[in-house]
Amino acid sequence: MTKKQIHLNGFAQHTVSPHAIGLWKHPDHQGSTHASTDYWVKLAQTLEKGKFDALFLADVTGVYDVYEGSNRAALEQAVQFPAHDPFLIISAMAHATERLGFALTGSATYIPPYKLARQYSTLDHLTNGRIGWNIVTSYLESEAINLGLDGMIPHDERYDRAEEYLDVVYKLWEKSWEEGALLNDPEANKYIDSTKVHPINHEGKYFKVPGVHLVEPSLQRTPVLFQAGASDRGTSFAAKHAEGIFTNTQNQKNATAELREFIRQLEPKLQKYGRTRQDVKIIPAVVTVVGGTEEEAQKKFQELRSYVDYDGAAALLSGHSGIDFSKFDPDSYVENIETNAIQSRLNNYTSTDPNHKWTIREAIQYHGFSLGSEVIVGTPEQIAARLEEISVEGDADGFNIRQTVNPSTLEDFVETVVPELQKRGIYRTDYEGETLREHYYGKGQQRLQNNHYGHSVQLEKEALV
Ligand SMILES: Cc1cc2nc3c(=O)[nH]c(=O)nc-3n(C[C@H](O)[C@H](O)[C@H](O)COP(=O)(O)O)c2cc1C
Repeated sequence: MTKKQIHLNGFAQHTVSPHAIGLWKHPDHQGSTHASTDYWVKLAQTLEKGKFDALFLADVTGVYDVYEGSNRAALEQAVQFPAHDPFLIISAMAHATERLGFALTGSATYIPPYKLARQYSTLDHLTNGRIGWNIVTSYLESEAINLGLDGMIPHDERYDRAEEYLDVVYKLWEKSWEEGALLNDPEANKYIDSTKVHPINHEGKYFKVPGVHLVEPSLQRTPVLFQAGASDRGTSFAAKHAEGIFTNTQNQKNATAELREFIRQLEPKLQKYGRTRQDVKIIPAVVTVVGGTEEEAQKKFQELRSYVDYDGAAALLSGHSGIDFSKFDPDSYVENIETNAIQSRLNNYTSTDPNHKWTIREAIQYHGFSLGSEVIVGTPEQIAARLEEISVEGDADGFNIRQTVNPSTLEDFVETVVPELQKRGIYRTDYEGETLREHYYGKGQQRLQNNHYGHSVQLEKEALV
């Protein structure tokens, strides 16, 4: 019997040291060169060598200025800052690789849907169908006020808007252009059959988009849809739209149970949309620290952790949670506080392990190294064994591998852990399909699955005349 296979994404962001705060100082870290094309091409080639499904690029378009009501700590410690635009490096990486996918974050709160649909279609063409979209609703006030709003839209309303947003982009990607609309036929003197390209005439509560999609259908039409909703509202959104759900398993003693519980709560929501557990991939993030021996790995872990900067990490957790932690005693316990930013970020440090109460100091230190993901420290065999355990017992379908030091975190993983996963028969030795959706759902599955909500969105009758 074939063993359950796992999927792998490299997890990065177009900034200096996105997920390990303070490690910009580490002598082996080359994050300060992230502005160059070479940095990204090299990373993409490393991941393709390891047969990764995709490079997942996180993104925020704001500054972490909740802590102390200032951007000081974020700027001094390069906390996801400078924040370069990730859209612009994709084609360089795509040109230097053949199969690696790119799961690119785009905000449904700040990018107009008509524009986003065009960008992702263009990228899907440029990559031959290797594009995914990590749909986010965004959480930083500094994004809202610099992108034209007076303040952040409330948490649940961001998701309500995003629901309508998705309707708009499905109409553009799936319905505006019929198959065969692009003729390129000199004899008929027609490049496009205009009767087969429809304006979508969308008019809703939040968006009015009358026109036709600006780009002809790409291999996947709709990019592979990822989402990381963790709140009740967020997981309902994910159950309807996501083909891959990004999550965190931060509680090491209990991570597999935590994942099972996450999936148990997700299943009835999936059913509501005519979907099953098999229609969605669950992908937790992990940090891996690999060594030749267990002692060597532990030593490396301690050394890496010694670079974590408390102030910078506090800026990150304050930005994620929307709570200014400079106002609290660091030795007091993290309490469950209602927030308009990421609700689940605080749950990570309150509800996951009943036997461990986190102080604010501990939570900040942990967050600064892992962002609330599980840290797996050990030999390649031990890391592969733990990933298999999470996949089988926690029912995870794959992992986002976070970087601590670039390029060595992912290079080490590809050189040493990937062969162990292959030896265990739980990871591909080569790509089978060409597009990103095929990597996840098998050769031939280039388009959204038949039971996906995106197919059911209809154009208004008058739009079709
Ligand atoms: C692995 C992972 C990656 C994420 N990447 C981003 C990102 O790049 N940009 C962003 O604005 N939010 C990102 N988020 C936040 C989510 O989009 C979402 O806001 C968060 O999980 C909270 O969901 P909730 O509001 O439903 O609790 C990420 C979350 C997770 C777990």
